[in-house]
Amino acid sequence: MQPAYAQPRAAGDDWLQQSFSVEYTMPVVFTRDAFAPDNPHLRDLLALREPARRHRMVVFADSGVLAAQPDLARRIAAYAHANRENVELAGDVVAVPGGEACKNDPALVQGLLQILADRAIDRHSYALAIGGGAMLDAAGYAAAIFHRGVRHVRLPSTVLAQCDSGVGVKNAVNWHGQKNLLGTFSPPWGVVNDSLFIGTLPERERRAGMAEGVKVALIRDRAFFLALERDAAALAAGHADALADLIRRSAALHMRQIAHGGDPFERGSARPLDYGHWAAHKLERLSGHALSHGEAVAIGVALDARYSVLAGLLAEGEDLRIHRLLRALGFRLWHPQLLARGDHAALAVLDGVAEFRAHLGGDLSVTLLAAIGQGIEVDRIDNARVAQAIAWLQVLDGARPCA
Ligand SMILES: NC(=O)c1ccc[n+]([C@@H]2O[C@H](COP(=O)([O-])OP(=O)(O)OC[C@H]3O[C@@H](n4cnc5c(N)ncnc54)[C@H](O)[C@@H]3O)[C@@H](O)[C@H]2O)c1
Ligand SMILES: [Zn+2]
Repeated sequence: MQPAYAQPRAAGDDWLQQSFSVEYTMPVVFTRDAFAPDNPHLRDLLALREPARRHRMVVFADSGVLAAQPDLARRIAAYAHANRENVELAGDVVAVPGGEACKNDPALVQGLLQILADRAIDRHSYALAIGGGAMLDAAGYAAAIFHRGVRHVRLPSTVLAQCDSGVGVKNAVNWHGQKNLLGTFSPPWGVVNDSLFIGTLPERERRAGMAEGVKVALIRDRAFFLALERDAAALAAGHADALADLIRRSAALHMRQIAHGGDPFERGSARPLDYGHWAAHKLERLSGHALSHGEAVAIGVALDARYSVLAGLLAEGEDLRIHRLLRALGFRLWHPQLLARGDHAALAVLDGVAEFRAHLGGDLSVTLLAAIGQGIEVDRIDNARVAQAIAWLQVLDGARPCA
């Protein structure tokens, strides 16, 4: 839905009215082994607007990826050599620390900017970032502010980044202890989703990203949810075909929301892709980040499914079905911090609602479920119902020992 704005004033003596739009085209390529010398996709992506040129490119790679794939820098060099008519590497591959720590270190963005300057990256050359959502966020931010924005290509290397953050239009780093406080809306030049990278992910990371697939199926696509139910055992076991299907369908739904949801740069208040996230963001912090983002999202998704039933929006039993799917994927849907008490002995997780409202800038808009596959926006959350939903999670999963 288009956010509502006051009508622009008619041009007059005092106001010179101008209005323009900028069209973005952002290809997302699905492939395997993007750096095989004869794989055309990356080369073609770089050449989209200027096919006859030789394109300079600096490559930033997540240290976790480099550790898991020690031959990656060599493969990239061989790829560039084989495609030297079109691709020129601007120096060696740059290792960037992976994980959330890279978004917390103010010196890291400065270091990335220094490399962009040292390697003479200009507005016609490219910064390619290979990594998880955190490292892509930091590299994307540096690329977006250097020269007011240089061409940025993402190669997301986690399930979460391939099915959600990497195909989005945002980047950010944390600042003054606040998550994503500095960042831009800045669509990348293109995205290469390479299934090879999913193969080296630790099991925990692989699973965490699936929560975003379940989330987007729940708000937009019942058939996708049914497919996830069907494939749950294969997904939990890490079968490549099932994972590839989850990633592709989830990425397509995220992309559709951005392109056709009416608010790609989040100027209004609705955030349908943040279903389950008001509690998730709070739980991540309450757990001292023992819960990863995806693990917290799984809990938030189950909590808001039960809440939707308690609010009379979702049919009884559908919450249990959602819970069952998440459990089958291997998520634990309980954390003791769900019972933590904050100010005035209220449940600490409830602060997540106020923080979500503050993030939106005033008006609360939370997505709940009207059905599996159909999100619905509400403008208030009832504390007593949240407590009931937490009690439900505790009965179902609270007694199970940690995996
Ligand atoms: N920009 C957005 O729109 C958006 C949306 C959602 C989430 N995010 C951000 O994404 C981040 C979370 O991303 P994530 O879940 O991808 O985790 P992550 O980036 O923290 O990566 C997790 C770990 O996996 C390692 N790793 C990455 N790829 C690997 C591979 N192929 N093989 C082996 N190890 C690998 C990393 O080094 C890291 O240690 C958060 O910072 C979150 O804020 C951004
Ligand atoms: Zn998320």
